[in-house]
Amino acid sequence: MFGRDKIEYKTPEQVLLMRRAGLVVAEALAAVRERAAAGVSTAQLDAVAARVIADHHATASFLGYHGYPATLCVSVNDEVVHGIPGARVLEPGDVVSIDCGAIVDGWHGDSAITVVLDGADPEDLALAETTERAMWAGIAALSTADRLGAVGEAVEDVVDAAQSAGLNGGQRYGLVEEYVGHGIGTAMHQPPDVPNFRTRDRGPRLRAGLCVAIEPMVVRGDRATQVLDDDWTVVTGDGSRASHWEHTVAVLDDGIWVLTAPDGGAQSLGALGVTVAPLA
Ligand code: MF3
Ligand code: CO
Repeated sequence: MFGRDKIEYKTPEQVLLMRRAGLVVAEALAAVRERAAAGVSTAQLDAVAARVIADHHATASFLGYHGYPATLCVSVNDEVVHGIPGARVLEPGDVVSIDCGAIVDGWHGDSAITVVLDGADPEDLALAETTERAMWAGIAALSTADRLGAVGEAVEDVVDAAQSAGLNGGQRYGLVEEYVGHGIGTAMHQPPDVPNFRTRDRGPRLRAGLCVAIEPMVVRGDRATQVLDDDWTVVTGDGSRASHWEHTVAVLDDGIWVLTAPDGGAQSLGALGVTVAPLA
């Protein structure tokens, strides 16, 4: 389940190198978030991210990955992940998940946000908020737990609680299982897998040097997904809307650091009672 083979544990120096890539991704996503609005095409968002990455002399990690044709994945409404930017023009109330990866000196950063455009249904706004909270709970679990399986448990607990509180209008949320988080470092995807849901397998032990991308995908209906004829775009089978959030996180000797957050996650994790580790 977790693909325990050959985990690349990073030294503190290597974690600092990964942070450089993470900060480029953070800046690119901030610029794209700023630009995202009704009337803007997804290709225009892609160009914004490409510009930021180029300005830093970094490399877009998705472009050319297994033939992927763009810098970002932009997944709108019922698209869950891997939406290809293009001529599609965003509309009021759209739920827009934006995924970005960059490489600096061979080290990778990977992060995703969901932007909900003005005019949205309250339940769509709640979907994005629930998914973001689930991601932060999963990240926080890395600082307290002894095994990686705690991430998925924490994610699923948040989604269950939000559902019970009626945030999805009394309907069930779906937690996508076909796509998982991953180790990250000198490649975008490395062992171990990081399921964003509860599993029987408790997963590998957490130890300093582990760097992982935590990336829950939550949908407003059934968790089943399909891939469109473009061979990339993942959509919900029932047309329900989806949200995807992701951060790249380092486990250090004295705690954790979110490499794709400018503050290391201090603010969001602080709210959960977790203090981020000093970085070197
Ligand atoms: N962030 C995505 C992931 O972790 C990567 C996008 S897939 C790509 O799986 F092919 F577009 F790169
Ligand atoms: Co990822």
